[in-house]
Amino acid sequence: MFQDKVVIVTGAASGIGRQTAIEFARQSAKVVVADIDEKGGNDTVAQLKDDGHEAVFVTTDLTVEADCAHLVATAAETFGRLDILVNNAGIEVTTPLHELPEHEWDRLVDTNLKSMFLCSKHALRQMMPAAGGSIVNVCSVSGLVAWPGIAAYNATKGGVLMLTKSLATDYAQYNIRANCVCPSIIDTPMTDVSNGHDAAVKAEKAKLNPIGRLGTPEDVAHAILFLASDKSSFITGTALTVDGGYTAI
Ligand SMILES: NC(=O)c1ccc[n+]([C@@H]2O[C@H](COP(=O)([O-])OP(=O)(O)OC[C@H]3O[C@@H](n4cnc5c(N)ncnc54)[C@H](O)[C@@H]3O)[C@@H](O)[C@H]2O)c1
Repeated sequence: MFQDKVVIVTGAASGIGRQTAIEFARQSAKVVVADIDEKGGNDTVAQLKDDGHEAVFVTTDLTVEADCAHLVATAAETFGRLDILVNNAGIEVTTPLHELPEHEWDRLVDTNLKSMFLCSKHALRQMMPAAGGSIVNVCSVSGLVAWPGIAAYNATKGGVLMLTKSLATDYAQYNIRANCVCPSIIDTPMTDVSNGHDAAVKAEKAKLNPIGRLGTPEDVAHAILFLASDKSSFITGTALTVDGGYTAI
C-alpha cells in the first residue's frame, strides 16, 4: 500500500509508535524511526531490517527544534523524499493539577504538543514543494473529553486536536492532509507505568471501554495507516476515535 513512500514515525522505540513502524514496513514503506530512546529505536530498526525492510533510526529529542530539523533532513537525504509524518511520541503525567510543578507542565507541553509543531513545521517544508503529504497525529480521547485526574495531559491533547484541524485547514491547498487518532486506554508500556504494573488495575481499566478490553498497539496502528493512505484521500481535519466505544457513551 505504501510502495516507494517514506514515513517518519516519532516515538517508535516503544508501544504504538513501534507497532506503527512495523505495520508501515509490512506495507512496503521506507521507515524513519525517531526516538530519544536509542536502544529501543535501534531495536525497532533491527527488527524491521531482519524482516527485510528499509529503515533508519535517528536519535531525536523531539522537544528540540534542531533535532526535529535534523530528523526531517535525514529522512529526505536517506530516502529522497518525505510522504508521511506520524507525530506519535508522548508522555503522561498523572500528578493532580494543584500539585504539578511548573517544570513538569513545561515538559509535558513540550513533549506532547511542541514536538508536533516542530516536526510538522519541518515536514511541511519538504511536503509543500512536492505538493503532497499526509500528517497523522496521535491525540487521545482525552483531547475530546476530560479524563479524570490528568488535567495537564488532557490540555496537551486538546492542543493536538486543534493543531491537527489547523494543519488540515491551512495546508489543504498544498495537497497535504492532517488527521489525528484518539485512542482510549491502549496496552503499552505507558499504560503499564500509569497502572503501577498492576494487572488488576489494568483489568479494571479495560472495563471502561464498552468493548470490554484494552486496545492494542495494532488497533491504533491500523487506524493511522488508513489515515496516512490514499484510501482516506478526502478525509482531512478529522479525529478518528480508536476507543472501544469509550466516547460513545
Ligand atoms: N497508551 C495509551 O493508553 C494511550 C492512549 C491514548 C493516547 N496515547 C498516546 O499514544 C502515543 C504513544 O504512546 P504509547 O502508549 O505508545 O507510549 P510509550 O511510552 O510506549 O511510547 C512513547 C515513546 O515516545 C518516546 N518519547 C518520549 N519523549 C520523547 C522525546 N522528547 N523525544 C523523542 N521521543 C520521545 C519514548 O521514548 C517512547 O519510545 C502518545 O502520544 C500517547 O499520549 C496513548
